[in-house]
Amino acid sequence: METGKSGGSLRILNPFTPGAGRPPRALIGRDHEIELMDRLITRTTLGLSNQAVVYSGLRGVGKTVLLRKFYTMAQEQDLLAIFIEATDEEEHDCLKLSEEIHKAAAHITNNHLLEQLEKTLEHITTVSVKAFGLGASVSFDQEDSQSANQSANQRIYQLEQTLEAVARTAQEAKSGLILFVDEFQEMSARLMGALISLQQEANSLNLPFYIVGAGLPDLPGILSKCHSYAERLFTYREVGRLSRYDTAAGFQEPAKSVGKSFTDAALDRLVADSQGYPYFIQAYGEAAWNEADSSPITEEAVERGESVAIRELDSGLYTSRWQRATQLGRKFMTAMASTGEDACKSSDIANLLGKKASGLTAIRQQLIQLGLIYSPEYGKLAFTVPGMADFIRRTEPASVQVYDRAHR
Ligand SMILES: Nc1ncnc2c1ncn2[C@@H]1O[C@H](COP(=O)(O)OP(=O)(O)O)[C@@H](O)[C@H]1O
Ligand SMILES: [Mg+2]
Repeated sequence: METGKSGGSLRILNPFTPGAGRPPRALIGRDHEIELMDRLITRTTLGLSNQAVVYSGLRGVGKTVLLRKFYTMAQEQDLLAIFIEATDEEEHDCLKLSEEIHKAAAHITNNHLLEQLEKTLEHITTVSVKAFGLGASVSFDQEDSQSANQSANQRIYQLEQTLEAVARTAQEAKSGLILFVDEFQEMSARLMGALISLQQEANSLNLPFYIVGAGLPDLPGILSKCHSYAERLFTYREVGRLSRYDTAAGFQEPAKSVGKSFTDAALDRLVADSQGYPYFIQAYGEAAWNEADSSPITEEAVERGESVAIRELDSGLYTSRWQRATQLGRKFMTAMASTGEDACKSSDIANLLGKKASGLTAIRQQLIQLGLIYSPEYGKLAFTVPGMADFIRRTEPASVQVYDRAHR
């Protein structure tokens, strides 16, 4: 057994990465998804068509890091790759998208394509200045709602024109345009609808433009509601927990990458603690590592780290989300947690709260919009964050947390 001088020397090598969007040292259990994306990218460079893709899953399963991995893969193959995290602020998303188109163009290494893209983007700017005048977007306080609406439509129209022209230019050089949209469910229905329409048009024109979206489990339903064609336009993939085997690798591989390891007993305990959820793997792995003073890391170190891991999960996953809900929202979620079911019946919540189900529609909707709960099937509700029910039962947070309006 190798013993470090102190826990400190081992700590410095800690390879675990708990935190939203933090790339893991080893991206475990996603080989198939990577292979599919690799196929999409290669087919695009061969001038062959593809289907756009949507990934959905609970919080903390690794959607963002997967999407970012795809983004890098696309860039490496000289495709135009755009990455945005959607918000419910349409103007912000539009501006971000325009910025990212320019950034994506700047990444292209094929000089001929780069020149053509510059020409295309310049042309689009000239045309839109002619059509709408300089400074087309006037600030909102100067506008009445009709002209606000008009300039929003204009903004989206310009964006569609740009995306289409860029995809066309890319096509001539056997490249393509991939738009990665994280938290897709957050996007305004108008912008979402426009992007879906554009996807539909690109498909029929055989243009290499592909949306690769990611979001919560209700994203497929939101897309279908937004646009009747959505169901047929996308391949839907679920991102979920890792298998038992992959979960063990999720601990052992990062450890081995820095020349250390876990004992079998430590691994068994870590697998049970993490339940295969990638965020949990990082939290329990990090905590066990920090409690160890030698390698292989033992079950005792895992045990000592458990309370630290739970605190990490509380602050990284649960507390801030809990704080987003109003008092009534918290009562609603506490009732959900008390059922002990993964997916509970809306009618049971109403009974528990002594109300009619119809009287709870607004609060239910608010919690869905906040991304805290979703409806996995008709009449049922579940938390979007794994372990949220446990957190609520364990900490009974209702009376101690303030309502944090600013924190979204
Ligand atoms: N395939 C994976 N293997 C190991 N760890 C992962 C994997 N995917 C994600 N993680 C880790 O899980 C955490 C959450 O990842 P993230 O992409 O933010 O999830 P999501 O976007 O689904 O909420 C991060 O700490 C990340 O390092
Ligand atoms: Mg994410």
